[in-house]
Amino acid sequence: MANLAISGANPLRNIKENPWPAWPIWDENEEKALLSVLQSGVWSYNGPKEIEFNKIFSEFTGTKFSICAANGTVTLQLALEALGIGIGDEVILPGLTWQATAATVIDVNATPILVDICEDTWCIDPDAIEKAITPRTKAIIPVHLYGNFADMDRIMEIAKKHNLAVIEDCAHKHGGEWKGKKAGSIGDIGSFSFQLSKHLTAGEGGALTTNSLELAEKLDALRNCGRRPEGEEFQDADKGAGVYSDDGNFIQSGNYRITEFQAAILVEGMKRLPEQNKLRDENGIYINSLLKELPGITPMKRDERETKEAYFNFSFRYNKDEFKNLPTNKFREALAAELGLTVEGCYEPLNNASLYVPRTKPSRHKLSDQYWEDINPARFNLPVCEKVFKDISVCFHHKILMGTKKDMQDIVDAIKKIYDNAEELL
Ligand SMILES: Cc1ncc(COP(=O)(O)O)c(C=O)c1O
Repeated sequence: MANLAISGANPLRNIKENPWPAWPIWDENEEKALLSVLQSGVWSYNGPKEIEFNKIFSEFTGTKFSICAANGTVTLQLALEALGIGIGDEVILPGLTWQATAATVIDVNATPILVDICEDTWCIDPDAIEKAITPRTKAIIPVHLYGNFADMDRIMEIAKKHNLAVIEDCAHKHGGEWKGKKAGSIGDIGSFSFQLSKHLTAGEGGALTTNSLELAEKLDALRNCGRRPEGEEFQDADKGAGVYSDDGNFIQSGNYRITEFQAAILVEGMKRLPEQNKLRDENGIYINSLLKELPGITPMKRDERETKEAYFNFSFRYNKDEFKNLPTNKFREALAAELGLTVEGCYEPLNNASLYVPRTKPSRHKLSDQYWEDINPARFNLPVCEKVFKDISVCFHHKILMGTKKDMQDIVDAIKKIYDNAEELL
């Protein structure tokens, strides 16, 4: 008789009686805020909600400036443009990330250089960065992936030594802290996404953070068709960095603005984020303390320099040798069936990813034969990314960390159940 849910037995958790926490979270405050925007008639363009959110988010991230934009893809593109990165330049980034981190580099006609990751954090490997530096390197984009921090001490040291810009891709790290400094405040620019799955969301949306007045002015103009920034922080000649003359708009750009509806939801979301991050952190510490006792399961490394955790995904490492060689994808499917949850692997490594295929667009990206070769993702060797993707990664959405200790215990018990019955699936 079958014991595992995937083979037809009862699942460990009955989600009809005991559902997992829902995402996104909203209540009458969001309803009121949306209605007030609707009734105001100010639905976009530097409106009061956008101004309010920028202020809240710059305070939250401990940066001088926060600038909203349409999503976390265009924020990366605008960050690259503000830093003057373009044709002939190389940008080093991890081979394990969402495709936008690399695709935006190509969108500004620069060359993404994909490097390997650390196996215990799945974030960019500083040694691999050092090896990839050439005279053409202009920037590094560390990605604080899922719930981990890239080693910002090493990265900033390398950047300083080689005079490189650092764009922190913080799409997964709203509120995480490295040695007391918030994600997005350590590099030159921080880039955030507020897409639906993220732990601060407006359905879609993004923000850029920086401490540089000059970069802030450029970023603000770039997201608004090149217009001279209008915010009061840029008005006073003494305060402005002066990248604009009095009579003109200097930067050719497009419309990457956010709407007031999005900004209104973000303002409400910010009232919950610190508490939600705290709860996820507490549950993360608790479940990791249980997981580390299980054979074949290794929690992600939490660097002691990470003073506050912020999870986008909760993940751990699986070792099939200890599970009678049960393949990782079977393990994930079995776990999903026991828990009534989506259980995924990590992103596809970008040297072979279905959504990172720049050479399908020759009309846009074939700038020269050499560039065409340079942007071929398959030229990069990423053994750790591949191993993590194929054999090791097990990932859940952060909402699983928003429940009770009993929820954490269910995940652990489901893993134990699969361990005890692994031969059923072989
Ligand atoms: C690491 C990373 N960078 C950038 C992005 C792009 O953000 P958006 O979906 O808001 O465009 C994402 C989105 O998933 C992401 O995960």
